[in-house]
Amino acid sequence: SPAVATPQDLAGRTVLVSAGGTREPLDPVRFLGNRSSGKQGYALAAVAASRGADVVLVSSSSLPDPAGVRVVRVETAEQLRTAVLAEAPSADVVVMAAAVADFRPARFTDHKIKKSDDGGSPVIELVRNPDILAELAAHRTRPGQVVVGFAAETGDAQGSVLDHARAKLARKGCDLLVVNEVGVDKTFGSDDNTVVVLDAAGGERPVEHALDPGTKTEVAAGVWNVVTRRLAARAG
Ligand code: CTP
Ligand code: CA
Repeated sequence: SPAVATPQDLAGRTVLVSAGGTREPLDPVRFLGNRSSGKQGYALAAVAASRGADVVLVSSSSLPDPAGVRVVRVETAEQLRTAVLAEAPSADVVVMAAAVADFRPARFTDHKIKKSDDGGSPVIELVRNPDILAELAAHRTRPGQVVVGFAAETGDAQGSVLDHARAKLARKGCDLLVVNEVGVDKTFGSDDNTVVVLDAAGGERPVEHALDPGTKTEVAAGVWNVVTRRLAARAG
């Protein structure tokens, strides 16, 4: 059967992807973490490389390195921020697929916290982590750079998944927001994904690109299709 050539529509582009859940250390043996597997970010990196991009993946996941991708390993949100801000000036596209911890322990205890340390239960004080996506969007280091965020949302009494997503897109100031609806058995650790990409371009209300449901690799291809149209629009 004839081989179907992968389009090389990202040739000559440098893309930066962050992936995985950050780990915020509490003591030498413990951390605060989350259930993000990193699979969607890794799929984005792998698909971009297969379409010809130069790809840097800043990762707090333990998945194996995708072929043809430069991987920078990090653990905490602070390390992720440092690595992303260092790489962003040479990126045409930055995709923040990482699940960045919103909070970290205020203090790292340099010995293992023991039950005997005090009579009661320990209280862990938390402090906010920096918002890396908002910082990237506010201080663009390269003209025409496309900044892409991810949001896992649930609908609630305050609004639908898309209501929350539109508010987040505006708050972050990024160009595109890839929105997943999450529930108990949706998204985390699974190989399939259903997403809508919100595009802030143009009018009052973001344009909605509903991608076909599929594997994380298929969803990654759909996200890059939206991104390449965005890049072309900016160039022309
Ligand atoms: N993000 C980031 N830095 C943070 C938190 C989030 O760069 N400290 C990025 C994520 O990588 C993602 C996007 O922001 O691309 C949205 O993450 P999300 O957790 O949905 O946004 P928050 O602003 O933290 O909102 P929420 O209170 O809903 O968690
Ligand atoms: Ca968050």
